[in-house]
Amino acid sequence: MTRVWSPSMTLILQLLSTPLLAELPSVLWGLDPVFSAFPRLYVRDIQDMPESIQVPGIYFYNSHPVYRVDVLGKVVYKREREDFFCYGVDDGTGVINCLCWKNELSDSPSPSSVSFIMCVPCMCPDKVNDPVMSVQIAWMMEVPELYRQCYDKPLQLNSTSTALNKAKGIILDFCEEKSVNRFRPYDLQNILQPLVSSQLQTTAADQPVAGPSACQQLCQLLKEALDTLEKEGFIYRKVKSQDQVYNVTTQDKDLLIAVKCIIREDSAKDKYAVKGCHILHILSAVRQRYSLNVSRAALERLLSFLECSSDIISTGENRYTVF
Ligand SMILES: *[C@@H]1O[C@H](CO)[C@@H](O)[C@H](O)[C@H]1NC(C)=O
Ligand SMILES: *[C@@H]1O[C@H](CO)[C@@H](O)[C@H](O)[C@H]1NC(C)=O
Ligand SMILES: *[C@@H]1O[C@H](CO)[C@@H](O)[C@H](O)[C@H]1NC(C)=O
Repeated sequence: MTRVWSPSMTLILQLLSTPLLAELPSVLWGLDPVFSAFPRLYVRDIQDMPESIQVPGIYFYNSHPVYRVDVLGKVVYKREREDFFCYGVDDGTGVINCLCWKNELSDSPSPSSVSFIMCVPCMCPDKVNDPVMSVQIAWMMEVPELYRQCYDKPLQLNSTSTALNKAKGIILDFCEEKSVNRFRPYDLQNILQPLVSSQLQTTAADQPVAGPSACQQLCQLLKEALDTLEKEGFIYRKVKSQDQVYNVTTQDKDLLIAVKCIIREDSAKDKYAVKGCHILHILSAVRQRYSLNVSRAALERLLSFLECSSDIISTGENRYTVF
């Protein structure tokens, strides 16, 4: 089999598409092995793939993100236009168009069969010499197996939580080991890098890569990890400024002091003397005195931290007092 590679050829495939409502967040695409492969899909299925809402040019087969495919088929027509040739490639399930720009064709190919990659602007159709159909037979054996083993199996969504959880764990460990009490997202890019590059290893071949770059994936993963950590109260932003500084909740000595102060002062008041201060009262006092942006989750985390270090005691029902 001879594969003729012409890096400068361009294929544009016309894909029929319908929007898919719930699609996997783009940050997680790299976790799907189908995304980094050249899935060998039938033309019929390629034509049915809905396009991503998040990133145009990415399509979904059965929830697997796809931006390039390998197709083997016969060229059933070739039409000449001013600037390009248009080939119809028939794999037995359907016919798909591919365009090859003329000025980039040295000797115009008229392949009897081609395998090619789609979606990406820079394409490489291969001419396959297959006189005894051995390539085609091998392909016909392999593809149904790939469908069974891989394409038709839904992506395990727990890989979602895996990537995020790993990122969260790395950030929390980093803050603890280095006693970090505040940081900017930028400071964390390097420590999360291994998560993203390991996902992308398999796309490192000399093929042009469309879809989110490693850098975009890193930023997205970082953002989602920080959002989750913020939601869960591990970190918070003292001031909402353009300068994105996150404080590590339990490392923020000023916040710890402010909360202890509030509980101490207010527990002395008749109103709270018996039952202790309610968390919502503490929350509104912290927001008034310290930072409007302290969330209930952050305060809860701080209160249990103070309780562990015996600075305060819980009197039950979300109420706290000091010794
Ligand atoms: C997803 O969960 C299954 C069963 O709980 C587990 O066997 C598998 O390893 C998990 N996948 C990942 C990527 O963590
Ligand atoms: C929390 O972040 C603010 C800036 O947003 C900073 O001024 C403050 O010192 C930080 N607190 C600690 C304990 O680092
Ligand atoms: C704190 O500020 C951030 C950034 O502006 C915002 O996303 C978040 O919702 C705020 N949290 C609270 C509890 O106000």
